[in-house]
Amino acid sequence: MRTKLIFTVSFLAAALSLVAQTNSTAESSRYTYQKEHDPNGIGKFYQGREIAHVMGHEGADWLERPERMEEERPDLLMTALKLHPGDSVADIGAGTGYFTWRMAKVIGNTGKAYAVEIQQEMLDILAKKMVEHETTNFVSVLGTITDTKLPAKSLDLVLMVDVYHEFDHPYEMMDSICRALKPGGRVVWVEYRKEDPNVPIKLLHKMSEAQVRKEAAMLPLQWVETLEPLPRQHIIVFKRK
Ligand SMILES: C[S@@+](CC[C@H](N)C(=O)[O-])C[C@H]1O[C@@H](n2cnc3c(N)ncnc32)[C@H](O)[C@@H]1O
Repeated sequence: MRTKLIFTVSFLAAALSLVAQTNSTAESSRYTYQKEHDPNGIGKFYQGREIAHVMGHEGADWLERPERMEEERPDLLMTALKLHPGDSVADIGAGTGYFTWRMAKVIGNTGKAYAVEIQQEMLDILAKKMVEHETTNFVSVLGTITDTKLPAKSLDLVLMVDVYHEFDHPYEMMDSICRALKPGGRVVWVEYRKEDPNVPIKLLHKMSEAQVRKEAAMLPLQWVETLEPLPRQHIIVFKRK
């Protein structure tokens, strides 16, 4: 009996160690690192692109700048998302909640908007903004750089505005997002157009449509449409297979 127990414990330990080794090998083959790199990036590369620095909470005012209404036309983005009352949505990298409260208004009190952040300071600001906008149908979630901490198969739509390019672990984050989507649920990338040199944003904070589609191709996602009503950003929509 004792021998059997020791054998089972040793077998489980060996299996767990193998899983850990496999995960770390997968991660090390997924990402590469360079000492010399763009100062706006972290020196870590994924699919031929350098990952940008995370925007710190000290820059929160920039997310609320009045010019943003003209530069980004959040009203046009809300229409393009084709949300319905009662939908469950998530705003990943929600920042000050600029898009969380807007989505929460469209889905109404029968819907739920998750605001996911890795900076507690941003969630604290977001909570105040939700009071200002009289929004209660939201839930704040403090995620990690690899995990959204969202419930499985619960979401009709995930929105990522100006955040994907700064995910430290883009593959792991997207895997977590895909697990949180309902079958047929949509995930939407909104990124400054890299193809347009007139968009006045640092290069690593822009993405081309081709790069987004290349990175989405390794996920259980199907491209639905790319919409271009916004002055500076792509809206690229996929659905969960
Ligand atoms: C440039 S801000 C954009 C905020 C908001 N989406 C907007 O457009 O107003 C990017 C935000 O994403 C957050 N972020 C970065 N990586 C993240 C991750 N892996 N999970 C959740 N949030 C993340 C940062 O903390 C930062 O607040």
